[in-house]
Amino acid sequence: MAETLLVMRHITKIFPGVKALDDVRFDLNAGEIHALVGENGAGKSTFIKVLAGVHQPDGGEILLDGRKIAMHDPLTAQRHGIAAIHQHAASYPDLSVAENIFIGHEFMAGPFINWRKANQEAKKLLDSIGADINPAESVGSLSVARQQMVEIAKALSQNARILIMDEPTAALSKRESEELYAIARSLRDRGVAIILISHRFEDIFGLADRATVLRDGGYVGTWPIAELDAAKLVNLMVNRDIGQFYPKKKTKPGKELLRAEGLSRTGYFKDVSLRVNEGEIVGLTGLVGAGRTEVAQSLFGAEKPDSGDIYIHNEKAAINSPNDAMRLGLGLLPEDRQTEGLLLPWPIQYNITLPSLSALSRGAFLSDKNERRVSSDYKDQLSIKANDIMTAAQSLSGGNQQKVVVAKLLAMNLKILILDEPTKGVDVGSKAAIYEIMSELASRGIGILMISSEMPEALNMTDRIYVMREGRVSAEFESEGVSQSQVLEAAMPLDKQS
Ligand SMILES: Nc1ncnc2c1ncn2[C@@H]1O[C@H](COP(=O)(O)OP(=O)(O)OP(=O)(O)O)[C@@H](O)[C@H]1O
Ligand SMILES: [Mg+2]
Repeated sequence: MAETLLVMRHITKIFPGVKALDDVRFDLNAGEIHALVGENGAGKSTFIKVLAGVHQPDGGEILLDGRKIAMHDPLTAQRHGIAAIHQHAASYPDLSVAENIFIGHEFMAGPFINWRKANQEAKKLLDSIGADINPAESVGSLSVARQQMVEIAKALSQNARILIMDEPTAALSKRESEELYAIARSLRDRGVAIILISHRFEDIFGLADRATVLRDGGYVGTWPIAELDAAKLVNLMVNRDIGQFYPKKKTKPGKELLRAEGLSRTGYFKDVSLRVNEGEIVGLTGLVGAGRTEVAQSLFGAEKPDSGDIYIHNEKAAINSPNDAMRLGLGLLPEDRQTEGLLLPWPIQYNITLPSLSALSRGAFLSDKNERRVSSDYKDQLSIKANDIMTAAQSLSGGNQQKVVVAKLLAMNLKILILDEPTKGVDVGSKAAIYEIMSELASRGIGILMISSEMPEALNMTDRIYVMREGRVSAEFESEGVSQSQVLEAAMPLDKQS
């Protein structure tokens, strides 16, 4: 029998108006990867925050090596060998990579900080997980994927026995996820126990030994992964039929809406040309770091390209700011939605309708009643889990926050939408809802450019796909009939191809 490291039982946590956890139990063996799964708002992050000492439970107990532990704060958890990589990395963007990894560590303390040693040690840790990152660089300047790697290095530096990963691959491409899997497996083989939270079934079925399912804050059960398959797991999670998963309808592309010609931005992308027509969903895929997000930001006027032209409705457009873009009917769902997309202390309703209330919107003014109705409709359509439309965005679960930003963009009634990883961190049921909305928008003639790292999504939800490699468009495919390996080959850096 495997050695039981951790037992949590009768865990209950109440937030004002919400029972986030109700009598949840969980156990963890040394050397296992145990997945914690459930819909957005099911209570996964709350549960692991109880273990990590971030939240104090209202009931229940935590036993480590058979002994009852009071997890007063994150430091207590850390002393017990529990390290957590949270859903929204709590790193210090202004500090360097090395500082982030070793914050609170001895050679970072006192008046004489040993920078050379800190940088050396950081480099060693990063190398051990195959992350080529300069320890002296500031974390804020790294991509989400790389910030994630810094978090993992930090956990390793603490010699964690229990490693919690809350959606570690949400921002990673397939290849980067595989690198992370390799790291996770090697840690497991060294006896580290890993709690994995993920909405990606590839992660769960590819990595986990067991899975525990939560639904609406309640414990559903625990199974060896061999006894589960995707359909069964969905059933346990949502307990209802989610309908057709990829509802993409075949549409006849209409007039050209957006075209980029020879767009370049030094250091980010070069000579990018693409077009999106009415009614089309066009994919933009590639590895994280290939320049997709940067292209999107330039199309949206958030970053100025050095050269190249953008045409909207076949007319050369001067897009010098996001306001210009929106005035021309083009909107962007940013990748980093926590910081770019939400006013966290504000209610859901205002987050959804504020941008459409501004002078930018060409539609009629929304009355308070309409505003309420519009935002309530989106809340239902995307099943945003909250008691009320006036709930503050910050008290929503990660995935539900994402959905608010999606709703906000949709409420703006734009003609061209650029969606940067629209289903990142969103559960299966809500993914299907977002696909349904995309499909519906396309059939109304709206053009969508979707950046996606998830291959099945990129292949099944688009009409055409552009693949980017190292800042350039390396291929364009009709989505129907193209294979996953053709796309991956076009995405792979040339020096890595055999
Ligand atoms: N700080 C908070 N204040 C009030 N309510 C909260 C707070 N944090 C979480 N909740 C509520 O607790 C419930 C569980 O949220 P939690 O973040 O644990 O979900 P999750 O399973 O991690 O979801 P996701 O997949 O979206 O990340 C939700 O209803 C959420 O709105
Ligand atoms: Mg969560």
